[in-house]
Amino acid sequence: MKSKEANEKKSFSWKGFKQLLNLLRFVLPKKYAFIGGLIALSVSSMTTLAFPMLLGDLINQANPEASLQHINKIALILLAVFAVNAVFAYLRIYWFELVTQNMLAGLRQTTYNHLIRLPMNFFSAHRVGELNSRISADISILQETFTFTIAQFIRQLITIVGGVVLLSFISIKLTLFMLAFVPLVAIGARFFGKHIRSLSKRTQGQVAQTNIIVEETLQGISNVKAYANESFENQRYTQSTNEVIDVAIKGSKARALFISLIIFSLFSTIVGVIWFGVYLVNKGEGINAGDLFKFILYTVFIGASISGMADLYSQVQKAIGATESLMELLDEAPEFNDQEAEGSQTKLKGNIRFEHIGFSYPGRTDVTVLKDIDFEIKAGQKVALVGASGAGKTTLSSLLFRFYDPVHGRLLFDGADARQIHQQVLRRQMALVPQEVMLFGGSITENIAYGKPGATMEEIKEAARAANALSFIEAFPEGFQTTVGERGIQLSGGQRQRVAIARAILRDPAILVLDEATSALDNNSEAQVQQALNALMQNRTSIIIAHRLTTVIDADLIVVLENGVIAEMGTHDELMADSEGVYHKLSTRLQKNTEENTEL
Ligand SMILES: Nc1ncnc2c1ncn2[C@@H]1O[C@H](COP(=O)(O)OP(=O)(O)OP(=O)(O)O)[C@@H](O)[C@H]1O
Ligand SMILES: [Mg+2]
Repeated sequence: MKSKEANEKKSFSWKGFKQLLNLLRFVLPKKYAFIGGLIALSVSSMTTLAFPMLLGDLINQANPEASLQHINKIALILLAVFAVNAVFAYLRIYWFELVTQNMLAGLRQTTYNHLIRLPMNFFSAHRVGELNSRISADISILQETFTFTIAQFIRQLITIVGGVVLLSFISIKLTLFMLAFVPLVAIGARFFGKHIRSLSKRTQGQVAQTNIIVEETLQGISNVKAYANESFENQRYTQSTNEVIDVAIKGSKARALFISLIIFSLFSTIVGVIWFGVYLVNKGEGINAGDLFKFILYTVFIGASISGMADLYSQVQKAIGATESLMELLDEAPEFNDQEAEGSQTKLKGNIRFEHIGFSYPGRTDVTVLKDIDFEIKAGQKVALVGASGAGKTTLSSLLFRFYDPVHGRLLFDGADARQIHQQVLRRQMALVPQEVMLFGGSITENIAYGKPGATMEEIKEAARAANALSFIEAFPEGFQTTVGERGIQLSGGQRQRVAIARAILRDPAILVLDEATSALDNNSEAQVQQALNALMQNRTSIIIAHRLTTVIDADLIVVLENGVIAEMGTHDELMADSEGVYHKLSTRLQKNTEENTEL
């Protein structure tokens, strides 16, 4: 960790800078507004530059020989210049905001789209709060950079270049005197830039930590309350947010030091220049009072711009640092690419073969979760997976969905290696009723329709009926439009499961995976759901992870898992024949579960 940080500090972040420039591609959809904004900005900066020149000329008219007409003319030109300035200032602000808002939305859309396409493994290693922070807080930092920094940068560049050119007409000597200051700024910028960058990255990392706390405690709010841990969580959050302050303040100290040093040097230079200018006027070296006035105003303008540039530089460093993690996230390889999915047409019949499969989770490679799993499921068969908690049942079903690929051996669908079939093509023909049903916060209709986007109300109702969910849905005052609350919290566990079953029914998949789908139902509704499931399981391959004897008894094949290996395999009768077998002992407990309606 330490060496990584040291590394970060050493190298000037060209990569980060390039990545930041890379973001300009999000400007493309609004390129005309961007160009318009740049032009408006240039015009308004140039009109500002005309100001000292005209004002100096006006002051030069302060002598008895000047004609009133000429004075009026200069004053009118000055007014016209300000009017033009005002119009272009308006256009600049409007156009840049248009560009920035579109860019931010584009960046958020791209990030989100990328995020949901990352492999399961990525989500085991990252927490939701952190990812949420990347998409909201990190991207907000870019907003500042793009609306403000780019505009200011260009304006100041014009002021400096234009100002120096105009100044050199008045006095080359003075101009060179002033420019001697520039290398100093460059050295300072290089020195402070890297600190600012790494501290900014740390600040954003800490912001992400605080978001994790909010996300997790709000999601598990009933746990927080049940354990009366409000003050504990509050303390945790307070500590975490206070740490944000610490790191952020460290970062601004570096920035403040940098900027104040620059401001001090600048004012010293300005004083020096004025001092030298006054000396030249007094000596009568072709400079009059009006010229000196111009000179001083330009020097102040240029000085302000150079110190502004330094501030912008630190701003950009901050943005690079803050968005480095975001960029890393965008660099992660997605699970699949969409074009491929559109192209492939594999139609599943439902034959599945596990061929000597061995598996361990990518995040925990030293623990073997599945070992030499070898069995076959024929299209249309019903297979039950049974075994103690932690035996690897859910893991096996994850392999079917290609959430993960096996480490050893192969998974075959209709004889073809699963790796050759695009994940989305595969998943579109499968349905999963998971162990922990998670609904989306919308209505019941929306949640069932998730199985088949665009389904008609008739189809949704039919699916609900088949899942034995119709009666409880229609008992709600709002029926199908009832909102289920965050993650389905306003429904009971059994109701949630039946909504999930309806969703799977609507999907009409070739392969159905049920992870103990009936565990949260009472005996009466279980029998009803069982009926619906039996109908659903007709004509398709079904894999049921079962904790009850009733679900297992008529399976074509029962696979008994024990610590990640297949202990026994066969039909209920075959397995019961061995009175010493694992299944024989297990079946007593499965039977008991059915009677007592408790989980294994
Ligand atoms: N994402 C993961 N990363 C690392 N290890 C995991 C992950 N998910 C599960 N495991 C481990 O894999 C093993 C098998 O877990 P699995 O969820 O497949 O069990 P299960 O048979 O479904 O159990 P249960 O009946 O309790 O649902 C367990 O030891 C578990 O700790
Ligand atoms: Mg499980």
